[in-house]
Amino acid sequence: MKLEGTVALVTGGARRVGRAIALELAGAGCDIALHCHESCGDARGVADRIVAAGRRCEIVSGDLRRPEAAGEIVERTVAALGGLEILVNNASIFERMTLQSFSIEDWDRTMRINVTAPVALAAAAREHLLRAGGKIINLCDIAADRPWPEHLAYCASKAALACLTKALARALAPTVQVNSVAPGIAMFPEDYGDEVRQRLVDKVPLKRAGTPEDIARTVRFLAESGDYVTGQILNVDGGRSIR
Ligand SMILES: NC(=O)c1ccc[n+]([C@@H]2O[C@H](COP(=O)([O-])OP(=O)(O)OC[C@H]3O[C@@H](n4cnc5c(N)ncnc54)[C@H](OP(=O)(O)O)[C@@H]3O)[C@@H](O)[C@H]2O)c1
Repeated sequence: MKLEGTVALVTGGARRVGRAIALELAGAGCDIALHCHESCGDARGVADRIVAAGRRCEIVSGDLRRPEAAGEIVERTVAALGGLEILVNNASIFERMTLQSFSIEDWDRTMRINVTAPVALAAAAREHLLRAGGKIINLCDIAADRPWPEHLAYCASKAALACLTKALARALAPTVQVNSVAPGIAMFPEDYGDEVRQRLVDKVPLKRAGTPEDIARTVRFLAESGDYVTGQILNVDGGRSIR
């Protein structure tokens, strides 16, 4: 799909991986609906860079825990930018949960943001994506297949999102392609110390952590060149998933 002049909605686009995705897609010619929740100050700086590069950028805030948020975000995107061709479901929460610390409230919060919001956004965007022959790209995690017992809800949520990627690919075929990028290490959580980081990198065959840009380039590839790719989960993990 030619990206020049298309509109991409990137959820959680103000910081970290989402920011890199928004900048990469803008660099490829997309106008960007930059979704944020608590980081709308940071979003301003990203939007300035996108506008300086000659693309349009609309900041669209919204708490994805709210059931109405998905419809509002899509509506504001289309009202401001005139359409919606690419939906990138990047926003997510990554919280520790063991069987000992399990609570329904925490479980529901993770599921709502990591699973319900992506499918609600897909439903809200459906008509626009079908009209445009667009793309949905979900951010999964290799932990969907190699779950960590201390992140029960997060791993289950990403496994559900991987399943939804295949289900939505079938539901929206032949017009819209739906795929996922599954990072290994793209950017460490800010509270991880050097020792933990090194231990995790040691398990990666390519012997380095990935970068947000590694993920962003893969999202761009799927949007731009993935017209015959649908229902796939593409691991971008330095080979971690083959060990
Ligand atoms: N980082 C990695 O190494 C890694 C590894 C594997 C998979 N992934 C996946 O790649 C994606 C990006 O990773 P990341 O580390 O950059 O993600 P992140 O920093 O954990 O979260 C991305 C954004 O999600 C948004 N978000 C959280 N709760 C929200 C809510 N209630 N409503 C609306 N937005 C909310 C936040 O936006 P605001 O800041 O604006 O509130 C946040 O900046 C995620 O889907 C993640 O699971 C990342």
